[in-house]
Amino acid sequence: MDCKKKAIIGKDLDKAIALLTAGELVAIPTETVYGLGGNAFSESAIQKIYAVKNRPLSNPLIVHLANSGRLESVARDIPEMAYKLLEEFSPGPLTLLLNKKDSLPEGINSGLSKVAVRIPAHELTLELLERLAFPLAAPSANPFGYISPTTPEHVYKQLGDKIEYILDGGPCCQGIESTVLGFEEGIPVVYRLGALSVEAIRHVAGEVKLITAQHAETTPSPGMLAQHYSPHTAFVFTEHTEQMLEQYNTERTGLLRFSNYLKNVPEKNQFVLSPEQNLEEAARNLYAALHFLDEQKFDVIIAEKFPETGIGSAINDRLRRAAAKK
Ligand code: TXA
Ligand code: MG
Repeated sequence: MDCKKKAIIGKDLDKAIALLTAGELVAIPTETVYGLGGNAFSESAIQKIYAVKNRPLSNPLIVHLANSGRLESVARDIPEMAYKLLEEFSPGPLTLLLNKKDSLPEGINSGLSKVAVRIPAHELTLELLERLAFPLAAPSANPFGYISPTTPEHVYKQLGDKIEYILDGGPCCQGIESTVLGFEEGIPVVYRLGALSVEAIRHVAGEVKLITAQHAETTPSPGMLAQHYSPHTAFVFTEHTEQMLEQYNTERTGLLRFSNYLKNVPEKNQFVLSPEQNLEEAARNLYAALHFLDEQKFDVIIAEKFPETGIGSAINDRLRRAAAKK
């Protein structure tokens, strides 16, 4: 008998609840990327998440809650600023690092003192979280190091033989992971750039520090690995696409472009993220473009640098890390 699971893609909340309550994993839609959800209070569900993703145990998970009223079930000593930011930006792509309640299993945050928490802005998943008796631990639903999923099909392709059910919430409307923010001596610190821009956070919080993968000298957050989000194809990130092209066979090269096609490279080899030069649209299409370009099995994919503003900074962060040497 073939014991391999083949995931079903569907919208059946009762089925998702039954599986999760039995300690199984279910892929869930969010506004950012699809997550691989499991009971945050179950050490065995947490261990399954690490195993299915092939993720190092040292890289902690985000806890997803239905609303900020449930914050105190997982965190303690919550700073006033955390509530202020949540009021402004939740549900939404803001993940806060807060002091962990002892009752949460240690596997959730790799034994660190902080736990990451967010309230996702997706109707179906919010309803799921409302109806469940526990919050969901959910990293992005991709094998460790590979491209994040923004459609149920992306999840199916990557993890379809490892889980039973993918809750179908359509394509993710933001398309890039949440911004991870902690507090150091009361001052907000961004550890991972994401769908919520640093500019927007500054508007509410005033001073905000940046200690992200690009800016940090060491790695204070375990998820800030220089290399991440990578296609299997060789990947180059550059401000000078045309110069870079001289080194490659243009027929065998894929291009990731912001708003226009480049002459001298077949259009079928190019993925334009936003002809209108809209960075939100570009972010929404980013991972689908990377999945598509990777499937073409080019010799190389060359991605151009995006405007370093708003969500453009998060796009550049992901492309820089996709290009980092393994
Ligand atoms: O948008 C998102 O955040 C998606 C959706 C599914 O919610 N989730 C996601 O999870 O991107 P993941 O596991 O792929 O990334 C979580 C990031 C990692 O960089 C991790 O190291 C960091 O959050 N993180 C989690 N808990 C932490 C902690 N206790 N201390 C420091 N960093 C933490
Ligand atoms: Mg991830």
